[in-house]
Amino acid sequence: MVSKKFRARGIAATVAVLSLGLAACSSGGDGDGDGDTGAKGGDGDLIKVGFSQLGAESGWRTANTESVKASLTKENGIDLTFSDAQQKQENQIKALRDFIDQGVDVIAFSPVVETGWDEVLQEIKDAEIPVVLVDRTVDTTVEDPYVTWIGADFHSEGVKAGEWVKENYPDAKIFEMQGTLGSGAQVDREAGFDETVGADKIIGKASGNFTRAEGKAAMEAALQAYPDMNLLFAHNDDMGLGAIEAIENAGKVPGKDIVIVTVDGVRDGLQALVDKKFNFVVECNPVFGDQIVDAIKKVHAGDDVPKETIVVDKTFDQSITQDEVDARLY
Ligand code: AHR
Repeated sequence: MVSKKFRARGIAATVAVLSLGLAACSSGGDGDGDGDTGAKGGDGDLIKVGFSQLGAESGWRTANTESVKASLTKENGIDLTFSDAQQKQENQIKALRDFIDQGVDVIAFSPVVETGWDEVLQEIKDAEIPVVLVDRTVDTTVEDPYVTWIGADFHSEGVKAGEWVKENYPDAKIFEMQGTLGSGAQVDREAGFDETVGADKIIGKASGNFTRAEGKAAMEAALQAYPDMNLLFAHNDDMGLGAIEAIENAGKVPGKDIVIVTVDGVRDGLQALVDKKFNFVVECNPVFGDQIVDAIKKVHAGDDVPKETIVVDKTFDQSITQDEVDARLY
């Protein structure tokens, strides 16, 4: 039995440069798998790609989907079949099996959680379809489950959030709002943050599943359960934005009575910084469709690709200006 576990992190990372396109999603074409990767006039020359997106749970995800659809176009040599799993792993597994049945040239997917992929990844491998892993990571016993992975360093995002808290609010009583439990983004952000601030500083945790509505509900419960809490670390902007509503409804002032630190840096999140309701945001840049296209073309052509490509992230505090927020593309 293969027992080695593969996760997308750590070694041989290539730092990537970000870019944004503006076209729409393409579909159709039959693809001939001939390894010719340039932009072509006939659909027969296109690379057939099945892309399984995990959902549409957040502003980040919407921006990521727009970037994927803007880049994986016929003009760029790609015949895209796009599927939204609505944050359900079973939907995603079904989409991956459909891609196998359709005989796509390359499968790309962003896994909603890390585990539970062994069977379908083995089926993809048996069908000899290369996998480009996007955004989140997998934890599987299948050997060499993907050719290349492109995404953010979630662990480092958690560390950056933790370092800011440690420097500015060393005695904070922290409530940590986790993303979708078992997702790479939750597991690694939590590990990076907790080891940086120290577990004793965290007085409570609950998941808001990366959505605004569940973030609000989690914060309402937390305000009751942890009345001493004075700092929220939310694993994404949307949950933090939902938490603002709960905090204001409870008669407290977000950004003052409860300091708020989040991850993502979508426009609404950065606006909350300008409005002094968020205090610190670690960026997780969703706009890397061009890099996905590049990886797909190389993988299809059999060219060498790095095992990992890390998308570069920045951080923002309340010194951000309204002009910077207005200029934000997502
Ligand atoms: O995997 C990336 C995370 O997923 C983003 O931080 C979050 O907003 C999204 O739901």
